[in-house]
Amino acid sequence: MPPCTETPAGQDSVTILEVGPRDGLQNEKRIVSTEDKLKLIALLAECGFTRIEATAFVSPKWVPQMADHAEVMRRASRGRGVRLSALVPNEQGAIAAIAAGADEIAVFTSASETFSQRNTNCSIDESIGRFVPVLRRASQARIPVRGYVSCAVDCPYEGPIAPSQVAKVVARLRDLGCAEIALSDTIGRATPERVSEMVKAALNEAPATLFAGHFHDTGGLALANVDAAWALGLRIFDSAVGGLGGCPYAPGAAGNLETAALVGHFAGRNIETGIDLGRLRSAEEWVAQLVRES
Ligand code: HMG
Ligand code: MG
Repeated sequence: MPPCTETPAGQDSVTILEVGPRDGLQNEKRIVSTEDKLKLIALLAECGFTRIEATAFVSPKWVPQMADHAEVMRRASRGRGVRLSALVPNEQGAIAAIAAGADEIAVFTSASETFSQRNTNCSIDESIGRFVPVLRRASQARIPVRGYVSCAVDCPYEGPIAPSQVAKVVARLRDLGCAEIALSDTIGRATPERVSEMVKAALNEAPATLFAGHFHDTGGLALANVDAAWALGLRIFDSAVGGLGGCPYAPGAAGNLETAALVGHFAGRNIETGIDLGRLRSAEEWVAQLVRES
């Protein structure tokens, strides 16, 4: 994974991964046009993001909103130093994402068996098996792979998830060779206390540098959850422009943590994000209009 933003000596920095074009637009009722997706990615690249999750190479029958994945990935503007990642569930997705020029790949499994079945039609174990050829192909293409652990705190079907279950899935992704693991509060109901317990369990399996925090904001505590994870050493966080998002297979999951709120939060603590907040607000206005029209 690319290094954090360069900052003056002594100043803390954080990497924000913008997931709006994927984790946001996958959940919009109206399918956003390819041209509008490309415009959104270009606007975000101009804000200074070094990493943007651009699309998902998943089945168009399952998520029609991402059906234009190959065209989006092929045509998206990277700007200076931007790396575009693609969410993939299996080898078929990895082959297509790499062919379209993805700079990073993200695989996704879950700490909840039921969510794994509902989201990808397979068990956690089967999902990990599907990742083996994905990791092999990414290694051949010399691109890094992030692994998501969805439902790391709560599952919409099973309720609270034990931190020990998250740790088990983390260990599997670590052993597979994931360069980063995103601990994800898919339905956004976590509290800082429960995030701390979950992250501590994950830290028994790998150092903080391997982890990212991915918090949805249903309960309005996503920023507090970021702080809880930050206190335990995490320095990579996901968010979506305009707070877009949700998961079509996670009923009750509201939007992702809003990127401008996250950037503002870190700015207030003198932590460098490398993001131009003015440009981000313009991108946000544009996306709000786009979604209103949906
Ligand atoms: P399946 O129906 O069990 O798969 O779906 P299959 O292997 O039987 O294939 C069925 C059809 O899908 C076939 O096409 C395949 O070619 C096609 P047909 O012959 O019927 O025309 N197919 C594909 N097409 C494009 N790209 C692919 C691909 N693979 C198979 N990669 C599958 C299994 C995993 C494909 C399906 O369940 C799926 O695509 N699920 C994705 C669901 C999804 O994207 N959910 C939202 C992700 S958000 C999330 O998970 C949480 C996260 O954001 C973190 C957080 O917030 O917590 C990551
Ligand atoms: Mg998400």
